[in-house]
Amino acid sequence: MAKMWAGRFTKETDQGVNDFNSSISFDARMYRHDITGSIAHATMLAHQGIISQADADAIIEGLGSIREDIDSGALQFDPQAEDIHMFIEAELTSRIGDAGKRLHTARSRNDQVALDIRLLLRDEVDEIKALTVTLIKTLCDMALENTETIMPGYTHLQRAQPITFGQHLMAYASMFIRDLGRLGDLKKRMNFCPLGSGALAGTTYPIDREMTASLLGFTAPVMNTLDGVSDRDFCIELASAISLIMMHLSRFSEEVILWCSWEFKFLELDDAFATGSSIMPQKKNPDVAELVRGKTGRVYGDLVTLLSMMKSLPLAYNKDMQEDKEAIFDAVDTVKLCLSTFEPMLRTATVLKDNMRAAAAKGFINATDCADYLTKKGVPFRDAYKITGQLVGLCVQKGLTLETLPLAEYQALSPVFEEDIYQAIDLTACAFSRDCIGGPAKERVEEQIRWALFQLDQLD
Ligand code: ARG
Repeated sequence: MAKMWAGRFTKETDQGVNDFNSSISFDARMYRHDITGSIAHATMLAHQGIISQADADAIIEGLGSIREDIDSGALQFDPQAEDIHMFIEAELTSRIGDAGKRLHTARSRNDQVALDIRLLLRDEVDEIKALTVTLIKTLCDMALENTETIMPGYTHLQRAQPITFGQHLMAYASMFIRDLGRLGDLKKRMNFCPLGSGALAGTTYPIDREMTASLLGFTAPVMNTLDGVSDRDFCIELASAISLIMMHLSRFSEEVILWCSWEFKFLELDDAFATGSSIMPQKKNPDVAELVRGKTGRVYGDLVTLLSMMKSLPLAYNKDMQEDKEAIFDAVDTVKLCLSTFEPMLRTATVLKDNMRAAAAKGFINATDCADYLTKKGVPFRDAYKITGQLVGLCVQKGLTLETLPLAEYQALSPVFEEDIYQAIDLTACAFSRDCIGGPAKERVEEQIRWALFQLDQLD
């Protein structure tokens, strides 16, 4: 196919270079956004008297028919085309003649591509937000079902203090709410229009950048044309926000994997969301959670690709920047896939409440409460800590728990102990008496759920 820029060249492009240079295999995904941007550009050109209204009408109609034909499959992308911008422009010109050749007046592919990526990523951010909201709602639903489900809370993966499963789930809800905040923030910064930046220095035509910015739903034009064509910080910010979502999903996945093991058995995945082994008939594997954990590394890779690609580029546009698309598209697709698969996996899983409680009963996770009992009766905390440590040692020696250790043994170590020690170290009481804001107490978790749902209501 003859190049649109063939004017100064005397030879055809080498086929290998053509393939190497071409981005249509991955930027074809932006065809709708490219057409939307071109329609706004043509509308503005006619409004400013730079092209005739008749030409603009023909361009707009032609672009509409191209969009329909690509949507329906009647028009296939030409793998020989250099990129989606060239492909659509060539197709337009073949359909409407000279008017098509006027579309690119006062525009460069540099501002065109900078516009298209922003338009596409704006939509993608909305989709990622919607999937994150769905996950948070599921977490709230499950937390509400588990405000009284006692489980061990861990530090160092050692049983530490009793909590409720509801509180544990709401910890993740809080993380995903911050992720939503990051997506909202970066979308605001992304929402400035580079169109009119031209190749780098704007244009001598009397264009109206504010008009195209507003036609396309942007807050305002990008304030510097060199910046408009040459930064991809919005891709990096998005890849970074996505990396954080993946990091949260990956930690959660790690816990799901642990919880599904025989060693924990806190969770049973629905058969539709687990897989078997080709050799071991007993296996039920949490592949979804493992893949989410695995794909997190790949998204971090996308972020590093983008950061490394940009770090030494002189202003303004450089072809290196064509590499932005595969990385950011991969990050976007991966997080969408992970969110939309993880959520139903979690929602359909069975919470094995009895096992959680049984695990909470082992490991002396009420030892802090035992020490606090003594402190509340006037024993200095360090002494209380020591006495409780001796009690735990005694239990280990006798194969007992703090709940089953006879009162006489308690009193032998401190006369302060009375019958009410057993209420003080009751697991439910221990979890529920942690009644500060954000704590595991039933009312506090209910408060967290109301707070989370309120945050979702506040989203724009
Ligand atoms: N396919 C190119 C990209 O993605 C479009 C911009 C080309 N600009 C240029 N000056 N060669 O970056």
